Amino acid sequence: MGKVDPTMSGPAGIIARQASAVTMLARCLTCRRGLLGRNSCATCGRSYPEVDRILEAIGPLTGTNRIAAAFYDGPSWRRFRPWERLFLWFQGPGPDRARRQVLRHLPEQPGALVLEVGIGDGENVRRLPSDWAIYGVDISRTQLAACRDRFPVMAGRLVRAEAEDLPFEDETFDAVFSVGGFNYYRDHAAALREMRRVARLGAPVIVADESPDLYHFAPGYAIGLEGLDRWGLRAMGLDPEFLAMVTDHRVDIDSLARAEWPGHRRFPIWNRLGYCLVDDGSPEGA
Ligand SMILES: C[S@@+](CC[C@H](N)C(=O)[O-])C[C@H]1O[C@@H](n2cnc3c(N)ncnc32)[C@H](O)[C@@H]1O
Ligand SMILES: [Zn+2]
Repeated sequence: MGKVDPTMSGPAGIIARQASAVTMLARCLTCRRGLLGRNSCATCGRSYPEVDRILEAIGPLTGTNRIAAAFYDGPSWRRFRPWERLFLWFQGPGPDRARRQVLRHLPEQPGALVLEVGIGDGENVRRLPSDWAIYGVDISRTQLAACRDRFPVMAGRLVRAEAEDLPFEDETFDAVFSVGGFNYYRDHAAALREMRRVARLGAPVIVADESPDLYHFAPGYAIGLEGLDRWGLRAMGLDPEFLAMVTDHRVDIDSLARAEWPGHRRFPIWNRLGYCLVDDGSPEGA
């Protein structure tokens, strides 16, 4: 077990350890009972250690989640990041406008309790109202640690967990959102269901990412030389495994969203190079 807050001193000088705030909202992944502010499940005994104020609620990663975590944990993402920033800059222009196209769907609610799934190093955190209680989930230890270090208020509010298996009670948050990464989630349908489950009734759940067929706009694809694009992406920092995932992976966002979120709305963003799905849980046609 990693570090926990040794802040409470009990009777007879016994030091009790206080779990992070996020454990008050968390539930056990195995038996689905609330953790009630503890680092282990009182029902089944499963333990939820904290490593430097980041809760661990995750099993071994498989499929695309394993590849994505290795990418975001390692040096490849650091190398690729400037290119991602450049892409987003052109979609605003500027990062604030680009992100605003997604964040504008969040509620105007003082003191909102909000969850960002795939929070990364917290680029969206500073763009949200300072009176909001923001919580974050990610599969990458490195990204979560960076988020905590950039925003000390996030210590105790971050969980290493998968979007597909969120360790939270039902109907907890006033909004749940994800910006980037969704196209390569291991199980898109499970992630949409989980994000909806942990949002309150009527609360917006938002998923935004680049269009999965973005590679159709690459120069090599246009002239039938996809090897050229692969070479370019390698030079920009993508490691071979992540690159193979990007070029081989297909997801039909429209059918997926229709099946899981029948009442959702879809907004084109980033000059139509991206999509933003917004669901408030209403049934189709409501
Ligand atoms: C492109 S980054 C976006 C970070 C941040 N949301 C932003 O807007 O800058 C995608 C993030 O999603 C995380 N991620 C990828 N797959 C995930 C999954 N299945 N569950 C949770 N997080 C995931 C990655 O580790 C990475 O930090
Ligand atoms: Zn349990």
